[in-house]
Amino acid sequence: MIGFELSGVTKTYGETTVLDHIDLSIEPGEFLVLLGRSGCGKSTLLELMAGLRTTSTGTIHLGQERITGPHQKIGVVFQDSSLYPWRTVARNVELGLEMAGTPKAKRRELARAQLDLVGLPEVAQQYPHQLSGGMRQRVGIARALALQPEVLLMDEPFGAVDHLTRLQLQRDLLHLWSTERRTIVFVTHDVTEALLLADRIVLLAPGPGHIAATWRISQERPREPDALRTVHAEIHEHLGVPQTVKGIG
Ligand SMILES: Nc1ncnc2c1ncn2[C@@H]1O[C@H](COP(=O)(O)OP(=O)(O)O)[C@@H](O)[C@H]1O
Ligand SMILES: [Mg+2]
Repeated sequence: MIGFELSGVTKTYGETTVLDHIDLSIEPGEFLVLLGRSGCGKSTLLELMAGLRTTSTGTIHLGQERITGPHQKIGVVFQDSSLYPWRTVARNVELGLEMAGTPKAKRRELARAQLDLVGLPEVAQQYPHQLSGGMRQRVGIARALALQPEVLLMDEPFGAVDHLTRLQLQRDLLHLWSTERRTIVFVTHDVTEALLLADRIVLLAPGPGHIAATWRISQERPREPDALRTVHAEIHEHLGVPQTVKGIG
């Protein structure tokens, strides 16, 4: 297991500072959630960690290695699983392995194992359009896992699926994490999702993006949202969003 160290990470586009001096240590095996309203810089921060963008100043280390570009130890999952429609599910999962030069038989074997792991052993020969949104996200996770990364970076991965599917995907992700204990950095704007998943919630606030608060969530999983009401209210207060009142009308 391996962790991240962000030190003075700043990102500017022209005159605009999007992220301002982010210092953050992510422990090996930690499930860290980056929470914040849309536009506050969550995706930018995750892409910097993934080596898909470069910092303007500051450094990012994964273990002892400085991140300056995409790295085999880092798997990334986006909101839109961005599978290639002309490739079968198995060949989508094999994509990274193919680029890494893994021989065909080995690729097949690894892809099958990852599809088993995400609960989709039967769809290997289907095409993405034949799958539901939730299944496509699972394939996206299998593809990220195929290269056996040490860490998984996930950008609102369940943002586009229906509520029940989302609950199932959250449960399955927690199960996957509890068996393998990879470090996970998970981006969301959903407070409940953050509370159900995280060891630690880091709240990113805009203007320019900075860490406004953090919460350590120590309740055992699976968690009941009701048991986390107090911290839920506190986070909403920081976000400046009025909480929906339940049970009225
Ligand atoms: N390539 C870019 N050039 C200029 N501005 C950008 C670029 N990418 C993102 N931004 C700006 O950075 C801010 C943060 O964006 P983003 O990281 O996508 O936020 P979030 O994921 O929290 O919604 C936004 O104001 C966005 O317009
Ligand atoms: Mg985003």
